[in-house]
Amino acid sequence: MTVLVTGAAGFIGFHTCLRLLEAGRQVVGIDNRNAYYDPALKQARADILAAREGYTDVIGNIANLDMLKSVFAEHAPEVVINLAAQAGVRYSVENPFSYVSSNLVGFVNILECCRHGGVKHLVYASTSSVFGANAEMPFAESQGTAHQMSLYAATKKSNEVMAHSYSHLFGLPTTGLRFFTVYGPWGRPDMALFKFTKAILADEPIDVFNRGEMTRDFTYIDDIVEGVVRVAAQPAAADPAWRADTANPDPSRSGIAPYRIFNIGGGTPVPLMTYINTLETCLGKKATLNLLPMQPGDVPATAADTTALREAVGYAPSTPVSVGIARFVEWYRAYFKV
Ligand SMILES: NC(=O)c1ccc[n+]([C@@H]2O[C@H](COP(=O)([O-])OP(=O)(O)OC[C@H]3O[C@@H](n4cnc5c(N)ncnc54)[C@H](O)[C@@H]3O)[C@@H](O)[C@H]2O)c1
Repeated sequence: MTVLVTGAAGFIGFHTCLRLLEAGRQVVGIDNRNAYYDPALKQARADILAAREGYTDVIGNIANLDMLKSVFAEHAPEVVINLAAQAGVRYSVENPFSYVSSNLVGFVNILECCRHGGVKHLVYASTSSVFGANAEMPFAESQGTAHQMSLYAATKKSNEVMAHSYSHLFGLPTTGLRFFTVYGPWGRPDMALFKFTKAILADEPIDVFNRGEMTRDFTYIDDIVEGVVRVAAQPAAADPAWRADTANPDPSRSGIAPYRIFNIGGGTPVPLMTYINTLETCLGKKATLNLLPMQPGDVPATAADTTALREAVGYAPSTPVSVGIARFVEWYRAYFKV
């Protein structure tokens, strides 16, 4: 079976491809290696993938429909895992158009190619950020998510509703996965754990937003990959129990389309200061804190209800941050030789 993974040289894409290759799948990875963060890190991940049997590397932009069409024509993937996107809540405040290109145009291109390519299941990355202004915790997929706080989140919410239209009109099974703050080896340089580690090792202060008064449902990368792979193997189906004749039809499933949305979160929200203290322990060094106000577009807390995921695929994340951060630090020290 051939699986197409977009964003393959990215943090989550790289680990997902590795797991699929270990399971004996043929994997085609697309990534444009853009310079949102150091392309050398993306290239290093891509080099590891390229050395594995069964992997085909494509450097390309999913906003380019012709490129995408030729990849689908050549490889005829049965399953597509769309992880390519412009990520980052804070960056979207200053750079809206890269989100429009990758997350909106690129996503419609993926939908079109899946529709015409007879793809059996499209799995795509959404985000916990779509819960936006919601304050009832933990966040359940059945909650309404109309109050977006950033353009990034708005584009991901758009992906979910566009996917429903294709699932309905063309019978394309789609599953959206709302990832909650993913961390681990080969992680993203724009995210807190990477930035904190780099700064602490260089004896520089770390920027702590909302003065540390934040809670995140951090999710270890291996747990994310386990969820992605299990979900991908189980195409979405319409739910006969879904009701349209209520004030708030459940937005995470559908009675008229093979469509699902799942949270994938660590399940144990951790205060930011606990996360920092754990990192200090792993590094054997104290951080100097630069306490700052809340960033525009950001939310103070996230917490995932993962009941639906567990019921559907018999699994939910559980790696504690003490284990996950230690593994990240081990990778960081080896990779950067510090
Ligand atoms: N890491 C997290 O905590 C997190 C949380 C929620 C959602 N997500 C989502 O998960 C997905 C993967 O995130 P990640 O952390 O691995 O990010 P990442 O930036 O490391 O990976 C994304 C990859 O996609 C590539 N890419 C971007 N635009 C592209 C385009 N137009 N065409 C081809 N390739 C393109 C980038 O070069 C990058 O390698 C993204 O959709 C992101 O929005 C991530």
